[in-house]
Amino acid sequence: MTHVEHLKGPEPFSRDRNMAATSAKFLSVWDIQAYYGESYIVQGVSFDIHEGEILALLGRNGAGKTSTLRTIARLDNPALRHGEIWLDHQPLHKMRAHQASAAGIALVPEDRRIIPGLTVEENLQLAQIAPPIGWSLDRIYELFPRLKERRKQEGVTLSGGEQQMLAIARALARDIKVLLLDEPYEGLAPVIVQEIAKTLAIIRDQGITTVIVEQNAVAALKLADRAVILDTGTVVFDGSAQEVLDNEQLRAQYLAI
Ligand SMILES: Nc1ncnc2c1ncn2[C@@H]1O[C@H](COP(=O)(O)OP(=O)(O)OP(=O)(O)O)[C@@H](O)[C@H]1O
Ligand SMILES: [Mg+2]
Repeated sequence: MTHVEHLKGPEPFSRDRNMAATSAKFLSVWDIQAYYGESYIVQGVSFDIHEGEILALLGRNGAGKTSTLRTIARLDNPALRHGEIWLDHQPLHKMRAHQASAAGIALVPEDRRIIPGLTVEENLQLAQIAPPIGWSLDRIYELFPRLKERRKQEGVTLSGGEQQMLAIARALARDIKVLLLDEPYEGLAPVIVQEIAKTLAIIRDQGITTVIVEQNAVAALKLADRAVILDTGTVVFDGSAQEVLDNEQLRAQYLAI
């Protein structure tokens, strides 16, 4: 993917290259521009993620976080009109959503999409109805003991935190490379947020690469290795998560925290 190196968009004002020195780029987003109809929303976003990293994608309401995740997952809206997205040498920008999914992209949307009328276990089994199959149910239940306890219960009757765990577990039930999480902590009590964060750290240690979009920026930054901040559809910061935690001015300007 050396060509991506040469074609980088405008440099954000900070860039932490410590991690980059040792590991190859795994997901590369280069100058993506995406539209809802004629509305120009994702205005040339570029960033790289290394394998096994957690990247926090942050920014105020309407900054373009969800739209960026949807573009990477190759959903029809917003429509990608310019730029490239490479996942482990595969050109996602040339794919439709089902192909991007088969290539290893899993988007867990904000509303979690637990399927009504199905138990926890059936939700997981449905994810494994066709290859590529990922983690076994045993492995999933080891990581999420609460889901094991509730495996015969209808998925939509779970608590918000448990539904979020089920949504993540369902993604892992398929053979994925990158997990895209849109506001996984939304509406959850701090103790549940901590529990999910611990689980996400274990998932990272087992080799899954994650992008987390969160309004709860502090919680996301504590978990993440790196951070990208968006403002009106462009990247205004790309660096270490710690750098954002330490930089009050940056947080006030772009995150209002
Ligand atoms: N379906 C759509 N049609 C037209 N414009 C849209 C659509 N969805 C989002 N937008 C606009 O695109 C911009 C970016 O929205 P997006 O949902 O990506 O932001 P976000 O950073 O995820 O915000 P939030 O923190 O509120 O979830 C906003 O101005 C929004 O109004
Ligand atoms: Mg959003």
